[in-house]
Amino acid sequence: MNITALTFDTLDSTNTEALKQARLGADEGLCIVARQQTAGRGRHGRKWVSEKDAGLYFSIVLRPKLETKHLPLITLMSGIAVHDTLVELNLKPDIKWVNDILVNEKKISGILAETAETDKGLAVIVGVGITIKSSNFSPEIANIATSIEQEISQQPAPAATEPLSEPGAIATGVFGERLATALTDNLIRLYSILNGKNGPERIIEQWRKRSTYFSGKSVRVVVENEAVIGTTDGLEENGALRIRQEDGTVAIIQAGDVERLRVEK
Ligand code: BTN
Repeated sequence: MNITALTFDTLDSTNTEALKQARLGADEGLCIVARQQTAGRGRHGRKWVSEKDAGLYFSIVLRPKLETKHLPLITLMSGIAVHDTLVELNLKPDIKWVNDILVNEKKISGILAETAETDKGLAVIVGVGITIKSSNFSPEIANIATSIEQEISQQPAPAATEPLSEPGAIATGVFGERLATALTDNLIRLYSILNGKNGPERIIEQWRKRSTYFSGKSVRVVVENEAVIGTTDGLEENGALRIRQEDGTVAIIQAGDVERLRVEK
């Protein structure tokens, strides 16, 4: 995949721009990055607050040749790419199904994958938001979300040798560029695994190694206004989440927000 990057000062949404470029015929590998978004989108129609230089706002155009049933794995492979990018900063991320990246149980990054039928075939836009600074978080958000700056400042001894975590680097716009480069490298690596031999199985295996949500976690998910409660029990071959319920039956969750349940002792 050849990478071409277009960077903007301000966009409504990098996903909207990438969708537009894909419809105009952009090749796979076009990356759109903005310093701020005025209409950043999250999943389920939510807003993604995108203040200037407070986060990485990134979208990439993919034109996958995968079987349709494996398309949801693009979200999982993107989550792994974000996870591995944060590991390069010496953070210890977790992936909450399906696409929330957490550090110390707080959300640091989200992924919004969208599709478009174009003259060149199906395009998938993977949009990634990674929070770099949390100084403007409201108290409610600060309870559930975190940022690279906050997490690095809490580390006992930041590793000055790591290219992404040189002291002071986060204070500069250069950091966002380095983060975008590291993320792109990880996306290229994982997308090539997904497209290779036994790709879907290998992506699920890689996801298993990085997520405490893969199995044995008490969770609740609301699906069509009904709560599914149980213990996570692995993923289906298309990435759907298996939840073993108290009566022993397994619910297969294709989409929804997973909430961790804390077991009272
Ligand atoms: C979520 O967790 O709800 C997904 C958030 C995705 C946000 C990113 S920021 C870059 C790209 N452009 C958007 O408008 N959204 C995604």
